[in-house]
Amino acid sequence: MNSFGRIFRISIFGESHGECIGITIDGCPAGLLLTPEDLLPDLERRKGGKQKGTTPRQEEDLPIFKSGIFNGKTTGFPITILFENKNTRSEDYNKQRSIPRPGHADWVAHQKFGGNEDYRGGGHFSARLTTGIVAAGAIAKKLMSDLTIQAEVTEIAGEKDLEKGLQRAIDAKDSVGGIIECRVNGLPVGLGEPYFDSIESVLSHILFAIPAVKGVEFGAGFAASKMFGSEHNDAIENMEGKTRTNHAGGIVGGISNGNELIFRLAVKPTSSTPKEQNSLNWDTGNTEDFSIKGRHDLCVALRAPVIVEAVTALVLADFMLLEQKIKRIL
Ligand SMILES: Cc1cc2nc3c(=O)[nH]c(=O)nc-3n(C[C@H](O)[C@H](O)[C@H](O)COP(=O)(O)O)c2cc1C
Repeated sequence: MNSFGRIFRISIFGESHGECIGITIDGCPAGLLLTPEDLLPDLERRKGGKQKGTTPRQEEDLPIFKSGIFNGKTTGFPITILFENKNTRSEDYNKQRSIPRPGHADWVAHQKFGGNEDYRGGGHFSARLTTGIVAAGAIAKKLMSDLTIQAEVTEIAGEKDLEKGLQRAIDAKDSVGGIIECRVNGLPVGLGEPYFDSIESVLSHILFAIPAVKGVEFGAGFAASKMFGSEHNDAIENMEGKTRTNHAGGIVGGISNGNELIFRLAVKPTSSTPKEQNSLNWDTGNTEDFSIKGRHDLCVALRAPVIVEAVTALVLADFMLLEQKIKRIL
């Protein structure tokens, strides 16, 4: 539901236009030096409005530590971090209420929660909830300073030239999707708990929880289905397990093999396209033309790399704690 992880365990809460959103992190080792400033660079990368194609909604996103930090260090007890919602414009969503947005969660949420859900700004389904996840990810990254975790957008609208891909959306007055690639270096051999908690399984679980993610592939991914085994196999070159090629993407048998961890995500086009659409009005029972108001990302993928890095860090910190690669007291 809203919690994830075994030792390094997060619980998220809040709604896009409610008072606040936030996260509680349990299982963070004691003694980690931590200030709100440590979280700011990643929080800054997640914000909208800084680059073309992202939402003009501006929030300060200043982390407020509520528990789990004492004398500038983690205590080993749950860390709760709040972010206030200050820049909301709920009237856009009241007008849209009778026509659930196609591709968004409005219709299913209404069926499942009987109209009790807070629909403003997408409520609990909003990517605003990823703010807390990015904060927790920054803490996980700080715990694993020997690792580098880097995600980037590699394609927009099928174009490797990102500017060109985005321009296609702007010219068409429509939204577009993209591909994000993530690479992790410095991982030890032996992380992952097969059968069901292989690295691929656990990472995929949390990656698919990022709103708008529709596909995940590791290493050669879907292209592996077209290769010969002799071509796909990664020959082992030395006692550290370094392989000549890396079609496996750093994971074999669900366990890290010490090579670079590589995976890619397919992100769908933003459902809230500026283009006119036709869909059901649940007040009248008829379909009608409408266009979505409000502030939206033209290409969701642009803001997602730091979120991908965060969830990857959360999963890896959990595996590292399970494998006792990170101590309970630092
Ligand atoms: C960083 C980020 C920003 C997003 N911004 C928007 C947005 O402005 N408008 C929108 O309709 N969807 C946006 N989404 C996607 C929706 O939250 C998502 O499509 C919706 O909750 C339905 O979930 P699903 O696409 O996973 O099925 C965003 C997602 C992410 C990761």
